[in-house]
Amino acid sequence: MRPDRSIKIAPSILSADFADFGQEIEAIEAQGADWVHVDVMDGHFVPNLTFGPPAIAAFRRHVTTVMDVHLMIAPVDPYIDAFARAGADVLTAHLEAGPHIHRTLQAIRGAGCKAGLALNPGTGIDGVENLLDMVDLVCVMTVNPGFGGQKFIHSQIDKVKRLRALIGDRPIHIEIDGGITPETAPLMAAAGADVLVAGSAVFKGGSVENPAPYGENIRAIRAAAEAATGVMA
Ligand code: DX5
Ligand code: ZN
Repeated sequence: MRPDRSIKIAPSILSADFADFGQEIEAIEAQGADWVHVDVMDGHFVPNLTFGPPAIAAFRRHVTTVMDVHLMIAPVDPYIDAFARAGADVLTAHLEAGPHIHRTLQAIRGAGCKAGLALNPGTGIDGVENLLDMVDLVCVMTVNPGFGGQKFIHSQIDKVKRLRALIGDRPIHIEIDGGITPETAPLMAAAGADVLVAGSAVFKGGSVENPAPYGENIRAIRAAAEAATGVMA
């Protein structure tokens, strides 16, 4: 059976109102989000600090789609069970976060989550080759991790093309994270990505009181990506 390659939009709540996560999550889901992308940052692996398992458990009470948790932390292993218990559906660890990524991915699946592998812009895809049986998703960073609102790194387009060829028909999502807009989304969809994370491009112009722009922004990104691939949901 051919894997689902339909375009999925995953708004990153890093760009949401930090005083109103529950309402923001409900708003983006009501406005068409397919997944909810949650950026966990430890101030060590990346130069920013966000939230831990207790916050994830609180978000879980509002997420009805897929909670896609992006772990920008090192080490990863000591925290996997806590994030899984908090309700993550997908747990994505960075290849660069430590020397034993195979064990990390084993632990993520062992904890009952889908396993994601994230690659920083400076990391090649050769490290993925021996992990294709261990991952459900590969996240290609198109910004250097740590902040929303950064500029898309175009050199990653070729990496995605090569990654899609490496993955072939395996049921592995290619997720793009950073600088996704209606202008950059088609570039990555055409290269073979199916999950598009977008923070600033989704939340711009809207609010919990006025969520309509969230829906307009999500539809614009989705339409641009689908036009580039012809794959409708
Ligand atoms: C960056 C995060 C991204 C970021 C995306 O470290 O992993 O998910 O929130 O934000 P935008 O879409 O604004 O680049
Ligand atoms: Zn992210």
